[in-house]
Amino acid sequence: MQTRVLSFSKQAIAEAAQLILAGEPVAVPTETVYGLAADATNPEAVARIYEAKGRPAFNPLIVHVPDIAGAQQIGTVGADTRELAEQHWPGPLTLVVPLRGGAGIASLVTAGLATVGLRVPAHPAMQSLLQAVGRPLAAPSANASGAISPTRAEHVVKSLGGRIPLVIDDGPTERGLESTIVAATDGDLRLLRRGPIEVAAIESTSGTIEAPGQLASHYAPSKLLRLNAEKAEADEFLIGFGPIAGHSTLTASGDLVEAAAKLFDLLHQADASGFARIAAAPVPDRGLGAAINDRLRRAAAV
Ligand code: TXA
Ligand code: MG
Repeated sequence: MQTRVLSFSKQAIAEAAQLILAGEPVAVPTETVYGLAADATNPEAVARIYEAKGRPAFNPLIVHVPDIAGAQQIGTVGADTRELAEQHWPGPLTLVVPLRGGAGIASLVTAGLATVGLRVPAHPAMQSLLQAVGRPLAAPSANASGAISPTRAEHVVKSLGGRIPLVIDDGPTERGLESTIVAATDGDLRLLRRGPIEVAAIESTSGTIEAPGQLASHYAPSKLLRLNAEKAEADEFLIGFGPIAGHSTLTASGDLVEAAAKLFDLLHQADASGFARIAAAPVPDRGLGAAINDRLRRAAAV
C-alpha cells in the first residue's frame, strides 16, 4: 500500500472521510499527538487500526466526538464529570465513563468493557474530519506498536508508511503529549494517565494512578475458557475459527480482521449462553492473530 500525505485542507478532509466511511484508518493530527482514526461503529475498520499498528494486544481506544452532545450519546456523563468536560472540552482531556447500551460503538473499541473513553478534540483537522464523517472516530496514537507517539506527519510516515492509505499533515502538534485521562465510572474521579491538563483536585482525592493498559477492568468472561480446542465438550460453548465451525465462529474463511472484529462480541455471547464453560478453536499466531491469542490467553488464565 502506498501512503499518501496531504496537507490539511477541505479537499484532504473530504478524501479522508471517504476512506474512513469505506472502513480504512487514516492518520490525522490532534492537538496532542497524531491519531490513527477509524469509524468507531464499524468493527472491521477498528480491527484495521490494530492491524496497521501491529499491536500484539487489544487495549481500549479513545472515541473522539465533535462536542459534549456527541459524548452524551455514547456515554453517561454525570454531573461532576460534566463540569470537567465543560471546562476542558474541546481539549486534551479524555473521560472514561459508562458506555450507553445501544450506542453502536464496536466492542473492539472498548475491548469488551462497559466503559468508554471519550474526547472532544480541539484541533481543526480532527474537528473537520468528525464533521465530514458524521460518526464517532476511534483513534489511538498513530504509531506502530512499541514506537513513541507521533507529533509530526513525518513520524507517522516513518512508523506506519506502507500500512495506511493517508496521512493528513498539519505540522507539529501543539501539545506533543497524549491527553490526560480521567475515569468517572464509580462515583468519584480517578486519574488514569497524566497529560497536558493538570487535575490537582483529582490527584489529591485519589490515592493511586493506574497505568492504562494494566487496568484491572480489562474484560474477561466469567466462565472457564479452554484454548486450542478442536471440538466442544458437552458443556462447552465453542468459539470457532476457520475449518472449526463451533457454536459461533470468529471467521469461517480465516480472515483475521473479521476475527478481531468479532472477538469481544463472541466472548460476551459465550459468557451469556447456557453452556457452563467456553472453548476456543486455535487461532494462527500471525498478524492480528497474536493480539487475539493474547486476549484469549488472558481470559483463560482468569
Ligand atoms: O491524546 C490522545 O489521547 C491520543 C489522541 C490521538 O487522541 N490518543 C491516545 O490513544 O493516546 P492511545 O490508544 O494511545 O491511548 C489511549 C489510552 C489507553 O492506554 C487505554 O488503556 C485508555 O486510553 N482507555 C481508553 N478507553 C478506556 C476505558 N474504557 N477504560 C480504561 N482506559 C481506557
Ligand atoms: Mg499510544
